[in-house]
Amino acid sequence: MAGPLPLSLLPDTAEVLASGSLAVGGLEVTQLAEEFGTPLFVYDEQHLRNRCRESVSAWGEGVAYASKAFLCKAMARLAHEEGMMIDIATGGELFVTLESGVPAKRLIFHGNNKTNAEIQTAIEVGVAAIVVDSFDEIDRIDALVAAGSRVPNVMVRITPGVKAETHKYVQTGQDDSKFGFTVSTGDALAAIERVQAATSMNLVGVHAHIGSQVFRKESFQQAAAVMAQFVAPFRLQEFSVGGGLGVPYVEGETAPTITEWAEAVITECRSRGMLANISAEPGRSIVATAGMTLYSVGTIKDLPDIREYIAVDGGFGDNPRPVLYGSGYEAFLPRSVAAERPRQATVVGMHCESSDQIVPDAWLPYDVAIGDILATPVTGAYGHAMGSNYNKVLRPAVVFVMEGKARLVIRRETLEDLVRADL
Ligand code: LLP
Repeated sequence: MAGPLPLSLLPDTAEVLASGSLAVGGLEVTQLAEEFGTPLFVYDEQHLRNRCRESVSAWGEGVAYASKAFLCKAMARLAHEEGMMIDIATGGELFVTLESGVPAKRLIFHGNNKTNAEIQTAIEVGVAAIVVDSFDEIDRIDALVAAGSRVPNVMVRITPGVKAETHKYVQTGQDDSKFGFTVSTGDALAAIERVQAATSMNLVGVHAHIGSQVFRKESFQQAAAVMAQFVAPFRLQEFSVGGGLGVPYVEGETAPTITEWAEAVITECRSRGMLANISAEPGRSIVATAGMTLYSVGTIKDLPDIREYIAVDGGFGDNPRPVLYGSGYEAFLPRSVAAERPRQATVVGMHCESSDQIVPDAWLPYDVAIGDILATPVTGAYGHAMGSNYNKVLRPAVVFVMEGKARLVIRRETLEDLVRADL
């Protein structure tokens, strides 16, 4: 038996109307479902802007939004308008951010296996920095510059040997990782020395991203301590601690704020004598809680003494996180957001697999019924971004709501989209 949904899992402008119904951005959520259909991602634009502003004030000008968490043209423009740089990790993310009108000089280009073509494009358009991740990549940049490309600014991605407390799939700071140059093997030192001596690239700093959905400030402080000691002899301009700040998804979880995260890292670095400008790349902590997903309940299957299945019109195609990482979510009914939730059920989608569970152990109001709009909060990060068309299911629409207005930023896919690339 669970009580009402903790309102702290909802976006900044969420309010419970006199009717008991949820409004976000001044708009009633059930009305949004009616107007735009379901499944629907709803983002509180004010919440997004608040977190971008908090990031810039906590970390300073160089802070970048990690676009992989959620990217579309409107999101890239929003992060840019709020003064953030943008972290891109593929040619696709580069393309979308450039299409949005964000200037290349505001982009940081990541990736553990960038192609020649991606590196060449990044240099041509003039990204702020390429984060080099391997000796092979250094060779590629050498060759491109020898063939006439401009000399790019680079940062070196360091693997500090810090195992963050999070799901194994999203740990990146430990020695056994495909990312970056490892400190303990001597690769990190060799890479910095090589890049510093190279005429084909201009070294501006170092980078270390230890993982994602990390709750403990101490993990970041540990990485900062390794990096401070490691970079001391090099007098580099920039140190980026990457992203990774966790957010609460379910009742009982707590996480540091962006401001607390920044203070902990910056204090650790300064106390160890680091002089470089210190920055970060938050993704999840900007967008996760800003977003929620609305579904329609279509089928309810009751298996007495076994389980009740509540099936909605989405599934792991719009949120693969439960099946990938075993991630937990809450479920609630926006029409009665503060209601008690005594009814236990498994919220499933409509894909052809038993793994297609959105909330395996959900608690819902007793009167949940077919036709209800059911919502899962905190789906703004790595939901739409990691979605798929499995079973040829159409990807949902995305709306931004603010001050009583809703704007569609990604339209719902159509059946024609499903054959767009077919020949
Ligand atoms: N910087 C780099 C180099 C990264 O690889 C990432 C995330 C970030 C920044 C942003 O991290 P954030 O602040 O969002 O934690 N799909 C997984 C998360 C994968 C994160 C990959 N890299 C999930 O749904 O939990």
